[in-house]
Amino acid sequence: MADQTLTIPRSNGAVADGAGHDENPLRAGLASNRITDPCNIVFFGASGDLMKRMLMPAMYNLRLGDILPTNFGIVGFSRSEYSDDDFRTQMKQSVKEFSRSGPPEDTLWNDFVQRVSYICGDFDDVDCFKKLKEHLEKNDEELGTASNRLFYLATPPSVFSEIVEQLDQSGLGPRENKRGWTRIVVEKPFGRDLQSAQSLQREMEKVFDERQVYRIDHYLGKEPVQDIMALRFANVIFEPIWNRRYIDNVQITAAETVGVEQRGGYYETAGALRDMIQNHVINLLALVAMEPPANADADRIRDEKYKVLSALRPIRNDDVASFAARGQYGAGAIDGKAVPGYRTESDVDPQSNTETYAAVKFFIDNWRWAEVPFYLRSGKRLGRKNSEIAVQFKAIPHRLFGEAGDTIENDVLVMKIQPEEGVSLRFSAKVPGPKMHIRSMSMDFNYGTGFGVVSAPAYERLIGDAMRGEATLFTRWDAVETAWKAVMPILETWQDKRDDRFPNYAAGSQGPATSDALLEATGREWRRI
Ligand code: BG6
Repeated sequence: MADQTLTIPRSNGAVADGAGHDENPLRAGLASNRITDPCNIVFFGASGDLMKRMLMPAMYNLRLGDILPTNFGIVGFSRSEYSDDDFRTQMKQSVKEFSRSGPPEDTLWNDFVQRVSYICGDFDDVDCFKKLKEHLEKNDEELGTASNRLFYLATPPSVFSEIVEQLDQSGLGPRENKRGWTRIVVEKPFGRDLQSAQSLQREMEKVFDERQVYRIDHYLGKEPVQDIMALRFANVIFEPIWNRRYIDNVQITAAETVGVEQRGGYYETAGALRDMIQNHVINLLALVAMEPPANADADRIRDEKYKVLSALRPIRNDDVASFAARGQYGAGAIDGKAVPGYRTESDVDPQSNTETYAAVKFFIDNWRWAEVPFYLRSGKRLGRKNSEIAVQFKAIPHRLFGEAGDTIENDVLVMKIQPEEGVSLRFSAKVPGPKMHIRSMSMDFNYGTGFGVVSAPAYERLIGDAMRGEATLFTRWDAVETAWKAVMPILETWQDKRDDRFPNYAAGSQGPATSDALLEATGREWRRI
């Protein structure tokens, strides 16, 4: 009989043989990708933008990469009135438009789409959830999904609690499912301040155990972010110098060139501190600063992340001005194109006091990091898209090269998260020639060229992990709560007092001058974005 193996083209030009074996020589000898458990995954908020741009393309690529088993079901659930066919057509369009692997391949899509269905329902109507339950039971019989259920909340946070309650009321909660597992994936933001996060957590706990809750922070799914632990704990050379003796300061940047796009309504209630610092950027800090875990179990890693976050020195409300800076963009130009200021974006109050830029200086009060400042910043409409962690080492203790040594700069290790992905070490070297001239040079590692692959989008990794029950890259409640505690004094202070200097930075610039002032007092400066 002829070999029936399906040959599936890959986005990076490599070819998979249908069994998960890449032809990339750099993967030779490595275990193939782990297939997820059979299950139904229910996307609440299935008519939304996240579903179209990220979630459905991620599901399709998981199938394309042989990470999904054949016995899975995808169920869209939202208020919009679609038939199964309408939903499938829309999802095909979204894969065509947003998938990294381009338009869906016909044979694979036709098979995939038979497992996709849709339920129109209100989040507060228990009957719709009962209908969903019957539908999942039917899928279990017809698709072999083994009573395993993953509920994905891709809705506005205002309905998170309601959905959890209806799951419980309709018998879809984990306690009722004796035959398989039940898990819930929750999009950010988890609460909008400490109090609301705690109250959402109380609702969650009534129905789900902590180990069944997967709180997404998509930064943790980015390959270079996962590499932080590999760099630190799979090499012998970094850990001995990873402390206050050798490190002067750490700068963590998440800079964007985009504005608020179509999300003005949401952003007005959030601001940069809630939207980026409290979750993505603080998670980066935790990975850079945590102690080595005893092993790579999800909970050992998350214990260490929690410990380091709980050692963040509390910022007193009276001290906020010397520990944090905020900004809002005015009109300016990005890549030579004029762009409007924040206050004229759609759904934004023309007098808005929402910050589109936030910078914070944290200290970690423990033996390793005492008095080493961690500078965090994130902003929209800045001069360049750039997310990175820069570990800045101390100056050499003694200069032996006389004048030639005046050009010696401190060493810097940069973990590049996006758009470039890699690691770069800046160090001093002698300029060739008869004299002892010294310059900073850098050694660069780039993922794309180094491993010959394009990194998969974070959502692919994270959805796959949730389906496998692998929780390392999801944020545990204790860390979420601690991160809220760390930013609350800043939130409260900014909420209570308008900043009359807004807008205080031009779109396309390096951010507000107030942010430079956070470092200047100590003679340090931000790296250029
Ligand atoms: C989201 C924020 O969590 O992250 C957005 O809500 C932001 O405002 C986005 O633009 C940035 O993600 P990325 O992956 O583009 O850096």
